[in-house]
Parts: sequence; C-alpha cells; structure tokens
Amino acid sequence: MSRRWVVSLLLCVPLFARHPVRERKAMVVAQEQQATDIGVAVMKAGGNAVDAAVAVAFALAVTHPTAGNLGGGGFLLLRTDRGESTFFDFRERAPGKATRDMYIGPDGKVTRDSLVGWRASGVPGTVHGLWTAHQKHGSKPWASLVAPSIKLAKGFPMSYSLSESLESAAPRLLSKFPETNRIYLRDGKFYEKDDVFVQADLARTLTRIAKHGPKDFYEGETARLFAAEMEKNGGLITLEDLKNYQTAVRKPLTGSYKGHEIITAPPPSSGGIGILQIMGMLEGTGYHNTGAGSAAAIHVVAEAMRRFNADRSEHMADPDFFKVPVSGLLSKAYIEQLRNSIDREKASKSDAVRPGKPALAESAETTHFSIIDPKGNAVALTYTLNGSYGSGVTVPGLGFLLNNEMDDFSAKPGEANMFGVVQGEANIIQPRKRPLSSMTPTIILKDGKLKMVVGAPGGSRIITGVAQVILNVLDFGMGVQSAIDAPRFHHQWQPDKLMVEREMSPDTIAALRAKGHEVDFISNVALVEAIVVEDGWLAGGTDRRAHGKAAGF
Ligand code: GLY
Repeated sequence: MSRRWVVSLLLCVPLFARHPVRERKAMVVAQEQQATDIGVAVMKAGGNAVDAAVAVAFALAVTHPTAGNLGGGGFLLLRTDRGESTFFDFRERAPGKATRDMYIGPDGKVTRDSLVGWRASGVPGTVHGLWTAHQKHGSKPWASLVAPSIKLAKGFPMSYSLSESLESAAPRLLSKFPETNRIYLRDGKFYEKDDVFVQADLARTLTRIAKHGPKDFYEGETARLFAAEMEKNGGLITLEDLKNYQTAVRKPLTGSYKGHEIITAPPPSSGGIGILQIMGMLEGTGYHNTGAGSAAAIHVVAEAMRRFNADRSEHMADPDFFKVPVSGLLSKAYIEQLRNSIDREKASKSDAVRPGKPALAESAETTHFSIIDPKGNAVALTYTLNGSYGSGVTVPGLGFLLNNEMDDFSAKPGEANMFGVVQGEANIIQPRKRPLSSMTPTIILKDGKLKMVVGAPGGSRIITGVAQVILNVLDFGMGVQSAIDAPRFHHQWQPDKLMVEREMSPDTIAALRAKGHEVDFISNVALVEAIVVEDGWLAGGTDRRAHGKAAGF
C-alpha cells in the first residue's frame, strides 16, 4: 500500500484532494498569475528570493491593484540559506499631523474618514521596505526588478477576476474619486476580460522608482506631487512625513510547536503572538484526535482564538510607542492558564473572557506571497492597502491607490473598526506610530531545515486562517493544498460569534451550536498562499478562494 493511501486512511484525508504544484528547486506562490511568473523568471535568471520578492511586489502593484501597492505597506520575513532571519517592517506610519481624536465627529461618533478618502492614509512604506531588503540581500540590479512591472503598466490584458473585482468595487468606492474613476473604470465604462488595461501614470512613476529608488518616492518628483495633492485635497501627509519614513528592521518572533521552530511576525503585528498563543494553548491537549473538521476540534481551536483576540484588544500595538509584553503573553505559565480556562464541552461567553494579565517583563485587503529560491532562501511577504482598493484615492499624475490603514488604529477605544475588531488605548492614534496589524508572514523549520513558508491577506482573519493551515499540516498531516482548501472558521472574541465558511458541514455546525457557539456564515477566512517542503519537493498551494498561481522549476 502506498504511503499516501496509508496517510489518507489514518487521517481520513480525501484522496480526491487537489494536488499542489511540485517543483524541486524554487517556488513562488502569489495571488496573481503574471506576478508569480515574473518571480519565477527572476530566479531562473539567477536572482535570489529577495530579488524575486521585489519583482513580484512591484508586479502585483500593477496587476492586482486590489491590494498590491506602492501606496501601502507591509512586512517581509526573510530566512536566508545560512539560517539568519530578518523582519522588514514597512508598515505605514501615521502622519505627523495625526491626532488621537481625528476620526471622532462632533456627535462623538466615529466617522468614515479613516476608511475612505484623502484623510484615511498612513505614510506608505512599500517602496522603502522593498529597497531596504534589496540593499541588504538583493543580488540583481534594482532597475531590472522594477522593469517587468513597467512593461505591465504600459498594458496587459484584463483578467476576468480583476474586471469583476473592479466592477463590484465601483459603486462603493472607485467611482467616488475622479482620478480613480478615470483609470480603473475607463471614465465610467467597465473593463471586460481581455481588454488591454493601460496605466500610463503608474508606468511613469515606476520608471522613476526604477531609476532613483526611494529617493524619488520619498523626496523627489513623486514625493512633491504626492504632498501637493494631499494639501490640495485636505489630506495630512506632508513632504516632511515622506522624507522621514523609515523601514524598521526587526528581529522576528520565534517559538516552537511540537518540535517545529516557528519564525513569525513581531509587533506591530499581532499575528506572530496570535499564532504562537493559539498553538500554545492547543499543544498537549490532543484536540486533534477527534479529526480534522470535527466539532470537538473546532470548538477547542475557536476558544483559543477567542482568548488570543481578547489579549490583542489590550496588549498589542506599535512597540516603538507601547511596551508590548511579548514574553509575558507567550510565557508557558500564562499560556497554561489560558489553556486551563477552556471548557472542552461548552463555549465561553466573550463578555466573561477579559484580556489577561501577562507579566510585564519587557519594555481586507491585503495580499501575501511565499517564495523559496534554489539556495533555500525563503521569503514570506504580506503587504496591503488595508481595505480592497484602500482609501479609493488615486493621486493624480502618479497612478497608484492610497491605503486606508489609519482604520487599523483604535479610532475610539472600545469601538469596532472595519473588521469588527475592538481595540483599546494601546493602539490609539499618535503621530508617526504604526497601526497594529494582523499580517502574519511565517516560516516554519523542522530540525533546522525549511518546512513551510506561509501567510495570507484577510484583515483580522489572517491570524486564524494562517493558524488553521499550519495546524492542518502539522497536526492533521494534510498536504499543503488540502490544508488550504479545507473549510475554515474564525473567532475574534468580539463580536461573540463563531464565523464559519459555507462549506462547513451542517452536522458540524449543529454540534457547535449545541456547545453554545453562536454560529454565523462568512465568505472566507483569509486567502492563504503556502509552500511546504516534503520528501525533497517544494509543494506550492494556492487558495481556491482566490485566483493565484504556484509555479517554479
Ligand atoms: N490591514 C490589515 C492588517 O494589517 O492587519
């Protein structure tokens, strides 16, 4: 009997599961197909994983404007073939003129200004972050990595998924801003599949970035135009803010789970603490013995998610402004306390689960791609405009959309943001602060060797989505594609609801309701893109919920 049959019988993994893409040397998994192909071409020409990441990120800024960006920010997690790991934090920062109450109206209610329009944006970090990673680890000339995206910006055939996405975002957002309307909606007429989509201003901006790097974006012609339009339209970002932008090079967070080393996102992401806390609460419980997708297993994982998200609301923020008690939140004793508070039979009430008291020992739309190069360097990169198409604003003459990342701050402590996430004082708006993120680029090792590169877009659902795919691989023995395809669920403490994807069986949902969970449906819990190293192969899995591509050689 083949190994696959045995594993399938033992774990009840369906044999009809989709296969991943398998390659021996190198792999890119990204959310848009042309971007994946560009990353593969860079590595075929001798570039490393960081070179490929720079080229893929610029390509996504052209072909996947929903989330790919120049006007947003993100995180790049790198593990080199020599075993060194670095976290490049190019998250947006609040403008210098930002104030704590800037999104509270005269009636005391939170306005929509953090979501839509010129005042919704933080200072973008993407160009700076890609440049910083490339300066330290790139091997191919910068301009050669921007070149493919310039070509794409001069015109590429519209995909079905992009034309559909633009059409659905039009009434809500894109049509509200004349420049955005002109570029993405062809002056109000929708692009059809295979129409050639030309972004001439973006091509010119990319050409300047290819030539001058971040000097253009943060101090040069792009910066001057950007700041002038901000001033004209009542936005807050100034030339000074752009000049002051810095990528933070941080030490990744590390932890372990069942003999695996987890390398993941530190604050200002809550993602790394999230997966380490959730998995920590599960370790040793045997929760997985009832099988993947069983109500009993889902219940325990959901309770762990609930407890982490209660902590997230109070203890996490930009570490340059707030002392995040990372080691307290991840200490064995504290996690044991959280684990012991889980009732295996009955759902807790979120109102009764308060943020914990860890030792203070120390000071939507988003996109993700995973890359492994032939030497074994690995990159997990998640970057974002926050909401789909960000704030809806395209800076006239520059051709790129701006983020609405200011909504990731706590505009009014105790009130929910776009993702329904309730946050506290720690994450209030302060000038030059980075908003708390959920982005969770993660790399997993087994015996010091690469095992998995993973991450996802999906707002507050990123952490729970990434955690489930990791658990599906490490605890339920699934291959990467099955691990991604399996229906997912999400609990974020408040609102007190267990959100499940529609593919979850009615039987399971009934059993969860019987345990006291209020179950609601959700279209997706994140869009996970992952590579797993198995039996000498790189297995690339893309999310069936999106339109990405895994490819390599
Ligand atoms: N904007 C989504 C996040 O960073 O969590």
